[in-house]
Amino acid sequence: MKIPPARGRLSAWLFATLSGDPEGTIVLPEPPRSSGALQPAWHDDDFQLALWVCYELHYRGFDDVHENWQWHPAVVAFQVELERRWVASLRALAGEPAAVTPRAVPGALRELAQAGGGPDLAGYLAREASREQFAEFAAHRSVYQLKEADPHTFGIPRLDGAVKAALVEIQADEYGGGQAGRMHAELFRATLRWLGLDDSYGHYVPAAPAVTLAVSNLMSLFALHRRWTGALLGHLAALEMTSTKPNRLYAAGARRLGADEPARRYFEEHVEADAVHEQIAAHDLCGGYASTRPAATAGIMFGAECCLAIDDELARHLLTCWETGQSSLLCPAASRNAA
Ligand SMILES: [Fe+2]
Ligand SMILES: [Fe+2]
Repeated sequence: MKIPPARGRLSAWLFATLSGDPEGTIVLPEPPRSSGALQPAWHDDDFQLALWVCYELHYRGFDDVHENWQWHPAVVAFQVELERRWVASLRALAGEPAAVTPRAVPGALRELAQAGGGPDLAGYLAREASREQFAEFAAHRSVYQLKEADPHTFGIPRLDGAVKAALVEIQADEYGGGQAGRMHAELFRATLRWLGLDDSYGHYVPAAPAVTLAVSNLMSLFALHRRWTGALLGHLAALEMTSTKPNRLYAAGARRLGADEPARRYFEEHVEADAVHEQIAAHDLCGGYASTRPAATAGIMFGAECCLAIDDELARHLLTCWETGQSSLLCPAASRNAA
């Protein structure tokens, strides 16, 4: 993957810096300050892209960026500055997490997951989305789904005993139980190909609006900081506990639009697998973690709240664009060949 085009002052500074030689650079220009909070951070294209690129240095990086930038102090300092705004805006979005005792964590997560009330994107995709809209949905999702499970894997070395085993059990399924063709990211590639989309890693990042990148940036924030381990687990639990029903609807939408079994398998697999994962995530993972670290309870609930709130923001973005006859991507042509 090559570094995507910049979208403003923050990403322009970062990309200009990353295009240089990390060894030869001694004096760096001052990074621009975040332009402030004119719009929520999850709708700020420049901000989310800059943060996404900082984080991507810790996953697969970029063909045109030297690997030694990953821990370069200037880039780390810039990322920390962005994260200040990111965390503050997430706190405002998710609100104060309810006070929950460690024993009550699984039940509180269940309540949160069942609360609903968000935009009904899955129902729309099942009943009436056009093939072009379904392709847009898949292009948005590809930003995370092509590295599905990777952020939560960062949690494994931070855990012990039964809690660690619970996370490994979920992640092993996500990675196909040792069979490359069954990895969830690979199953999603088949869906992309059915829609005539490019299935290469990061292909739709340049077309992805802020809110799509925010979905990944939320996970990476929690994944890359040990202090957010509880939030990472709570995030995973919320993801697993709100997966079965929408995936059944996505599968129905894909079938309505003519998807064959391999093209639907990603969604159908999640109906089955996540019915099991949600139990493990709520009880063995989050319940187990909270019982050994009572102070982590608020973090678990915060991670879950943020997961659902940002997912709702993405769903709202897609439905609002489609209601007004617009593309939900920054470059509508990016998914046009799917029409
Ligand atoms: Fe999965
Ligand atoms: Fe899962």
